[in-house]
Amino acid sequence: MPPLFPERASTMAPRVDALYFFLLAIAVFLSLLIAGLIVYYAIRYRRGSADAVGTRIRGGMVLEVTWTVVPLIITMVIFVWGASVYFAMASPPPETLNIYVVGKQWMWKFQHLDGQREINELHVPVGRDVKLITTSEDVIHDLFVPAFRIKADVLPGRYINIWFRATRPGRYHLFCAEYCGTKHSGMTGQVVVMEPADYQDWLSGGAGQGSLASAGEKLFNDLACNTCHRPDSQGRGPVLNGLFGKTVSLVGGGMLTADEGYIRESILNPSAKITAGFQPIMPTFQGLVTEEQLLELVEYVKSLK
Ligand code: CUA
Repeated sequence: MPPLFPERASTMAPRVDALYFFLLAIAVFLSLLIAGLIVYYAIRYRRGSADAVGTRIRGGMVLEVTWTVVPLIITMVIFVWGASVYFAMASPPPETLNIYVVGKQWMWKFQHLDGQREINELHVPVGRDVKLITTSEDVIHDLFVPAFRIKADVLPGRYINIWFRATRPGRYHLFCAEYCGTKHSGMTGQVVVMEPADYQDWLSGGAGQGSLASAGEKLFNDLACNTCHRPDSQGRGPVLNGLFGKTVSLVGGGMLTADEGYIRESILNPSAKITAGFQPIMPTFQGLVTEEQLLELVEYVKSLK
């Protein structure tokens, strides 16, 4: 493969490339066909003599139907194929290694569940499904790893998931692909894909800071969340144990599944979705906790079984 294309280092890369080459082949075929016909007809139907008169043509049903139906079929193939690749990208497998990503002018911050933090460098194991749970603490950024063929907008105020499975150890470029201010072009980094054993070594090398969930537990107590959210259902707030992934009934009807985004929203904007049977008495923690602290709290709530 000439260096026109980035390396292929994820399971998604061949699928994206196959679609891309299909589009390229169609574009090349149609360009050559049209250019060839222009030249051919220019010669074939050139005006031979000064008093030659053209023939009058009144439509052609076969031709009309052909040039309508053939492009329709081609575009539907592109649509269905593209949609299937998109859905594969947008739906992470159920079991993933989760890593939190916070974009900020102008750096990428990565937070592993075991407590390791990284800036502009992300270590992941090869052959394992990795889900990046991304958010931004200021403007819109966009996480782009060409070798993995993954790209997703990173938005302030919510969590966007993107996943990949790296297939080859190595170092790969990571870019911000959304103009986000003066140093946007410098908002780059590297993804380091390691053999599982090396990855374990790397993980244990950075230990000592405690897991994300344990930092969240400390914060939970420091912020006195534990006075209302008690495990014994005697508190003024809902019991959080076992909440994650459960279906929650809301005041005024409606249901939702408790995911990271819901927990985050309930910390920042508690009255947005009140659990049935409770009063909207919780204060907001907007401005009191950073995006990183929010991740810790979310992980702590997730860890409560
Ligand atoms: Cu961040 Cu561009």
